[in-house]
Amino acid sequence: MFSRIIGTGSYLPDIVVTNFDLEQRMDTSDIWIRERTGIERRHILPEGQSNVDMAEHASRAAIAAAGLTPRDIEMISYGTTTPDLIFPNAGVLLQDRLGCHGGPAFALEAACSGFIYALAVADKFVRTGSVRRALVVGSEVLSRIVDQNDRSTAILFGDGAGAVVLEASEQPGIISTHLHADGSYKHLMYCTGGPSHGAAPGAMAAGDFVRMAGSEVFKLAVTLLGRVVDETLAANGLQKAAIDWLVPHQANMRIIQAVAKKLSLPMARVIVTVQDHGNTSTASVPLALDVGVRDGRIKRGDMLLLEALGGGVTWGSALLRY
Ligand code: ACO
Repeated sequence: MFSRIIGTGSYLPDIVVTNFDLEQRMDTSDIWIRERTGIERRHILPEGQSNVDMAEHASRAAIAAAGLTPRDIEMISYGTTTPDLIFPNAGVLLQDRLGCHGGPAFALEAACSGFIYALAVADKFVRTGSVRRALVVGSEVLSRIVDQNDRSTAILFGDGAGAVVLEASEQPGIISTHLHADGSYKHLMYCTGGPSHGAAPGAMAAGDFVRMAGSEVFKLAVTLLGRVVDETLAANGLQKAAIDWLVPHQANMRIIQAVAKKLSLPMARVIVTVQDHGNTSTASVPLALDVGVRDGRIKRGDMLLLEALGGGVTWGSALLRY
């Protein structure tokens, strides 16, 4: 038994902040941001709207694309680092919005790898026959935990949500997932301000923002993502040429190019959204997947490699036949 993606959906907030807007606010430039990261604009969630609001839009779109109704969803696996509340968890809040009560619903925190982690967990539930249909979500409001005056992080991140519906299938589907973490790198990217640290999400104490040692993370990302790509191919006895599309985490164009090079894939076979979305953390992979599916580049039967790396560090990949 396999799990297969039968629908994708995504959501981006209406507010768009361009590099030129940022030039007005801080000591940076469009050219610096584009050359170092590939980012041109990012979407920011307006005051009064929340992570679960975006997740609901993305989920309804994915469920509709699957030809289902929300009541068909038996489980929710929700990756996020910026939940609405400490509890109930974001998966439960989303379940109530969708009205598909009763099955397991949880949020899982693995920074930018959160969607790959959430997908791997849901895949195992479907494969083992625990549920037939699962909703997997990545939704993030990183703008609320980034210091908007810090040019080293504010330029990088955006908000958004993506979702997929998995269904049990005798044909693949998800072929394999590969998850990793190494806490000895915890100092390279982190955000203080958790509840046991004294501040509740949404009420961050002064100075509790995302901190990142950018160039160290950059080098580590190229190394670890290259390694997980090799691991994924080797685990399945595949050559690089078997991959039709790379759907990478969208943190930095140069990291994406390095992984594509490792796979000997031309950039025309890589779904790139970093220019329009910035780094949307857990949302970036499902957002890119939905873009590639809806614009017709990704077709049924194509072999996809999804990968991401985030704070922790956590990293992972998923190989699947779409
Ligand atoms: N505008 C202009 N100059 C800037 C800016 C800016 N926005 N930010 C930094 N600079 C300056 C620095 O101060 C530094 O100046 P100096 O040489 O005078 O000291 C210079 O530019 C170079 O800074 P670096 O940090 O070395 O620049 P780098 O080329 O490494 O690019 C970047 C920085 C874009 C952050 C890059 O390192 C990167 O993308 N890293 C990986 C990020 C990532 O993948 N994160 C993973 C996921 S995030 C998560 O999980 C939450």
